[in-house]
Amino acid sequence: MSDEQKKAKLWGGRFHGQASRAAEDFNSSIAVDQRLAADDIRGSRSHARMLGARGIISAADAAAIDAGLSAIAAELEAGTLAIDMEAEDIHTFIEQELTRRIGAAGGRLHTARSRNDQIATDLRLYLRREIGGLEAQLRELIAVLLRIAEQHTLTVLPGYTHLQKAQPLSLAHHLLAYAQMLRRDCGRFADTAARMNSCPLGSGALAGTPFDIDREATALELGFDLPCANSLDGVSDRDFALEFLAACSITMMHFSRLCEELILWNSPDFGYISIDDAYATGSSIMPQKKNPDMAELIRGKTGRVYGDLLALLTTMKGLPLAYNKDMQEDKAAVFDALDTLKACAGILAPMLATIAVDERRMRDSAAGGFINATDLADYLVGKGMPFRDAHSVSGQCVAYAEGKGCALSELSLDEYRRFSPLIGDDVFAAIDLAQCLSARDSAGGPAPRAVEAALEELRRWLEKQPAGVKV
Ligand code: ARG
Repeated sequence: MSDEQKKAKLWGGRFHGQASRAAEDFNSSIAVDQRLAADDIRGSRSHARMLGARGIISAADAAAIDAGLSAIAAELEAGTLAIDMEAEDIHTFIEQELTRRIGAAGGRLHTARSRNDQIATDLRLYLRREIGGLEAQLRELIAVLLRIAEQHTLTVLPGYTHLQKAQPLSLAHHLLAYAQMLRRDCGRFADTAARMNSCPLGSGALAGTPFDIDREATALELGFDLPCANSLDGVSDRDFALEFLAACSITMMHFSRLCEELILWNSPDFGYISIDDAYATGSSIMPQKKNPDMAELIRGKTGRVYGDLLALLTTMKGLPLAYNKDMQEDKAAVFDALDTLKACAGILAPMLATIAVDERRMRDSAAGGFINATDLADYLVGKGMPFRDAHSVSGQCVAYAEGKGCALSELSLDEYRRFSPLIGDDVFAAIDLAQCLSARDSAGGPAPRAVEAALEELRRWLEKQPAGVKV
């Protein structure tokens, strides 16, 4: 191996032969990990400052490293410095670029450090920041749901079980169910960020270092709560990435369920909503089509994010401690899930915000599906009948109306009384859909009063959040 080739590697010393071009390409991770540049530099600057403060390197070297790294960061940010894609990984590129600029001092940066603790630190720094952005996107989506819900507390929507009309809901109540899911997702991301907030720096390759380093100082300067407790765990743990992928997967599952409903509701057979032209596509052959492609893509990309989680779980399951190169695969999975989730949240929010709601279609559909059959039974309970008997009487009324091809509200009092003498004139008010809705005022229920309380609680929650979303 020539001197120049040895220099191009961080580890050339013990090698006589050179890696094949194919092996180098295969081994390279810079195409994926280049996005960690800013975090890598941030971690390196803290490390170098700590080395200087402890007298492990000279104050002058520490200052030169700091100035060099700071210039590299600024140039990368400004786009005036291009990343050399021939470098093995982002750590290699930055260290070599630094050494090219400041000479021998650059070679002292890696004292008491390994790429193993370095990459584990970089990825945590990066994810911690990105999670903040994801939470903001989720809060924005919750705010969109809230804004639509505020206008539809009285909009009757058939609620379904088994995709069969079940009981009356309001559109507001239905959408607020998703708001609760997304709120839990925010909580999951916050938990993930909190649990990953310990610093691997100082773990070295796996067995710490004999140098008198100050792990507390680097950890705190980088905004971590504390250093990781065990050097071996510090470099081997990818739980934080898995938790992140699990949180992404669950969030995507929620997006997917919501999109599935938007797709159904937007279909001409349901016609409950219409997705705006801006978020729909046409067919190249069938002129009548307006397809909900964005919603379908979000549903489809959910499988891809699950794949990222499964990929990393599978990668990790057989690895002996400590670092193994298999772990380099973590970043492709994490970045893919992150990018996918960001893109999905980014399109879901405006698509949702611009749906047109057809209140009449929702109400007509609700009126046609016997969704007040439970309310008829409840009415009979109010007249003193045991619920089990009331259920049977109501069922008989449904069968009769079904045979006649009409709704429960269209039966006459005489017809009703054939099934039970307890039924009086007040039955019609009791099974009126608006009445059925407002009667369901148990806490957390769909009655407008209960939903107003839920809206208020959600508004207060949003206002309390870090980047207070304006509702
Ligand atoms: N590119 C590597 C990764 O992402 C950095 C750590 C390399 N460590 C090593 N021992 N080869 O995992």
